[in-house]
Order: sequence, then structure tokens, then C-alpha cells
Amino acid sequence: MTIYRFPDNFLWGAATASYQIEGAWKEDGKGESTWDRFSHTPGRIANGDNGDMACDHYHRWREDVALMQKLGLKAYRFSASWPRILPTGKRTVNPAGLDFYDQLVDALCAAGISPFITLHHWDYPQALYETGGWTSRDNLGHFADYAAILTKRLGDRINMWSTINEPGVIAMNGYFNGDHAPGEQNPIKAQQVTHNLMVAHGLAVQAIRSINPKLQVGIVLNQWMADAADDDPLSIQNAEDNWNRSETTFLHPLFKGNYHPAYIAWAGSLPDIKAGDMELIGQKLDFLGINFYSRHLFNAEGIVDSVSGSEYTDTGWEVCAPAFRRLLNKVNNDYSIPPIYITENGAAFPDEVSADGKIHDTRRLDYLKNHFIQTRLAMRDGVDVRGYMVWSLLDNFEWAEGFSKRFGIVRVDYETQERTIKDSGEWYSRVIATNSVDEHEGVYVVHQKTGEPNNPNE
Ligand code: FCB
Repeated sequence: MTIYRFPDNFLWGAATASYQIEGAWKEDGKGESTWDRFSHTPGRIANGDNGDMACDHYHRWREDVALMQKLGLKAYRFSASWPRILPTGKRTVNPAGLDFYDQLVDALCAAGISPFITLHHWDYPQALYETGGWTSRDNLGHFADYAAILTKRLGDRINMWSTINEPGVIAMNGYFNGDHAPGEQNPIKAQQVTHNLMVAHGLAVQAIRSINPKLQVGIVLNQWMADAADDDPLSIQNAEDNWNRSETTFLHPLFKGNYHPAYIAWAGSLPDIKAGDMELIGQKLDFLGINFYSRHLFNAEGIVDSVSGSEYTDTGWEVCAPAFRRLLNKVNNDYSIPPIYITENGAAFPDEVSADGKIHDTRRLDYLKNHFIQTRLAMRDGVDVRGYMVWSLLDNFEWAEGFSKRFGIVRVDYETQERTIKDSGEWYSRVIATNSVDEHEGVYVVHQKTGEPNNPNE
């Protein structure tokens, strides 16, 4: 039996994002976001879902903090809604919006949970979008102003600040594929947005530090490992090409001061880069947030769509925990990076509520367990990982997929808003309490607890 012990002070937590859980989309002076507009547009979201109510966290935050306390979380990663604080994205502050986060942060601190804030997790002010959104250079300063407003109000209690969540998804899904808000399909704009997001990040880092230089500031990137299926040089080449073209997009400007030639070749040309941009983007960071879900596999012909023998989650992503260790090592070896926090990792599965009222989500538990173990192994390889935010605390609004995909370690009944800790959540609280992962815990322990097999094939 192997027990993987984590270092003291390892920051175990869970993550959410404002639009995915808050609801209250037009309450107390909040402005409209691009996600409000997008989800109210017929045909955009599975089942016609929207985030108007979501998990009603805006009203149930006290209950949710109590839940976090019950789970024993040491940290909570959440995002602030920009249009809740600045209804048109700039200038006029909505005091009720700031008060909301102020109270939440107070409650977290009182519960002994470290708040870990993301300034922007995709709910962009609609009014600002209408003046050019992320494509407009003039709008970037408004993001820095927003960062400053939040830092002034919350910087005395929040130590961990990330600027932008997954800039790649904003550029690619929002402006290239159009399956996320604002729903544009414009490769040229997508390229400029990619660069502008980096500039906005740099400006926000400066804004935060100008107010409080002691705060820990970073950014959150989603990275997929690119693996070769075999030793064929073509397979290896395909995996490498994929990595260079799509996985270096932000790592390179942030940590090498340029865009990777393979990314530029793919994009066709470079966006408009002003003098001083690359220095601004390359400012030293205090941490790098990594979101990891899966990998891409390549053989000599190209990408392998369905890996035989592999398990897939409800979002169609292959489960491959060892790829996480490889990814962490690759990022650590290829770049000179600050300490890493895993800012998201988790899996969607079609959970069922059993007759005993419990959710025996064995597959999610196993997914998390194996990814925790691979992270621990990467740490032994020499990667400096300081904490782990499971995605997600709650089942929530999964963007274009609406409520159809459940990622929570806590179930949300969207009819009643009742929260129920899943088996994965109970197991996670034991991981946190013991600061260790038992390779054999999971199926067996859950089985013992409930007195009935949770694995029908057992
Ligand atoms: C990430 C997002 C997060 C969530 C997970 C499943 O890309 O940051 O909001 O939707 O995927």
C-alpha cells in the first residue's frame, strides 16, 4: 500500500467561477455580461440553459462557505464578475457588487479558508464589448482599472491574485470558433485578442503591484499534454508540432518574451505588437496557475480521436493521469517559471443519486486520486507545485454545455438548489485532513462506509 504524503502547507482547495455559479444576473445594479447576452441567444447553449440563476451562489454564499468549511478546504479559488463591479466595464463602480465580494472574503477568512481570486473568468462587460471588446487596445486599460479597484478593496485580505483564466479559451472559443461568448468567428481578431489579453494581463499585474507589491500575482493557463502514441519519428513530430503550435501560445510570451515560430506560422502573421508590449507581458510572476484536464495523442497520421482502452469523461476528454506528470515536467523544463498552483483539475461524469441519497461518484474520485498522485510524483521529479484547486466545488453552468455536465465534488439539485457532498467530496476532505493520498483508498473505503458496493461490476 502506497501513501503519498504532501508537504506541509500544501494548499488544498476547490475552484468555481462567477458566471458558472452566481446567478443574480441583473440584481443589485449588476451590468450585462457577454455571457448573459450569449446564453440568452437561442441556439447557443445546450438545452437552452443560461446562468440567470445557476447555483444561486449570490444568495447562498453563506451556506457555500459553510460547505467549504465542512470539507476542510484550505483555499477557495473564485472569480469576480467584472460587470457586477463595473456595470459598463469602466468608470462607475457598483457599490453593491464590491460589497458582495467583500462579505464573501470576510466569511472565508473567518472560516480559515484562504481566498484565491481570479479577476476575469470570461464574463466580460457587454457594454465594453460593444466598444470593441478584447480587440480594442483602448479597452485594455479598463481591465487594469478594474484590477486596481478590487485590489484596493480586497488586497488587505486576499493574498493570491490571478489576472485572467485561460486566455486561450477566450481567444479561440470566443473569437475563433464562436462556441463561447461573444460568439465571433474571426481568425484575425482572435489573434489580436490573444496578444491583447497578454497586454491586459501585464497592465493588471502592474496595477495590483502598484497598490500592494506584497501580493502574489499570477495567471491561469490551460495546458493539454501532447503525447506520441509510439516511437515512430512521425508520431513524435506530430506531437511536438501540436505542442509548439498551440500549447506555447501564452507560455512563450510570458516566460520567453516572444511568440513561438510555430504559433506564428499557424496564425499566419503576428498581431499588432507595440513597443514595450513584450516586456510588459514578461514581467516576473509570483506563480503560474495550470488547469489540466486531458491530453492529445498523436500517431504518424495525426491526432488519435479515440484511444482504444482509454476511459473518457462526459465531456469526451480522455482520462490519462500520467500525462499530467509529463506536462508538469515539460513546462518546468522548457521554461523558467515561478511556483505552480494547479488551479483546476477535475472531471464530468453523469452522476446518479442512489437510493440512499448519496452520490457514489467513484470514477471522479479515481480521476482525482490518480491526478493527485501524478502531481506528487512530478513534485518528486523537481516541479515546485504549491497547491491544488479541484474543479469544481459545485456542479455548475458548464458554458456551452449548460447544466448537462457535472464537475462538482458537491451535487447541486437545480430544482431545489440543495447541495449534497458526493463521495469524491468526502474522500477529498480526508485527503486534506491527512495531507496524503492513499493509493488504495476510494472504492474500498466508500464501499465500507455505505455498506453497499458502489461499483456494480465488483
Ligand atoms: C475550464 C474552465 C472552467 C470549467 C472547466 C471544465 O476550461 O476554466 O470554467 O468550465 O474548464
